[in-house]
Amino acid sequence: MGRIYDATWGRLFAALYDRGLKSTEEAGLGQMRADLLAGAEGRVIEIGAGTGVNIDLYPDAVQDLVLVEPDPHMAKRLRERLAGSPRAATIAEAPAERLPLESASFDTAVATLVLCTVPDPVAAVAELARVLAPGGRLLFIEHVRSGDPALARWQDRLEKPWRFLGDGCHCNRDTLATLAASRFELGEVERDRIPKAPAIVRPLVRGIARLEN
Ligand SMILES: C[S@@+](CC[C@H](N)C(=O)[O-])C[C@H]1O[C@@H](n2cnc3c(N)ncnc32)[C@H](O)[C@@H]1O
Repeated sequence: MGRIYDATWGRLFAALYDRGLKSTEEAGLGQMRADLLAGAEGRVIEIGAGTGVNIDLYPDAVQDLVLVEPDPHMAKRLRERLAGSPRAATIAEAPAERLPLESASFDTAVATLVLCTVPDPVAAVAELARVLAPGGRLLFIEHVRSGDPALARWQDRLEKPWRFLGDGCHCNRDTLATLAASRFELGEVERDRIPKAPAIVRPLVRGIARLEN
């Protein structure tokens, strides 16, 4: 029963994703994505690409793009969006924790609103470090655990119901700490807010982390 309901919700979540985020994208998230992705270059991997919101924001400096998306409902929408886009890309239906890709073969990695959802963010970040070439960069926008203890407590209290609503999204993850403990070196990082989002998923970090040489 639970699994049938979850599968149904997964399909609906994918179907409603773009419409659900529309006002948030228009209120500023879309611009944040564009600003971040302007820095992508060379061979690029994006994990948890979802419906493909980022596809048309990649600059010409991107020579090759691999979009990783394990969820079949999201992957279907990703294929459809890619078919209607001038951007060429390959889709890999795989989890970020086990990338079917060669080591040290990418220049840029991209994660937007995805390290909140992958079941094992430590493993996903380690995989990104594996597939990036030395000196490669991870560009990220992630909603995170609040620095305000009162809001963080609400994130902990509401984590479970939100995880269901958000199709696996954990609203209380300290993703910067995960990155800081990895092989990446954090560069410019800005703390910001996701506009027009529920308070528990508003705290946001965006920036660049560089793989140690
Ligand atoms: C909140 S959506 C974000 C989609 C897109 N990145 C964006 O910026 O709008 C989270 C995405 O992570 C994907 N995801 C879930 N588990 C994953 C995993 N283990 N590896 C990679 N992606 C995963 C989901 O299927 C979903 O497409």
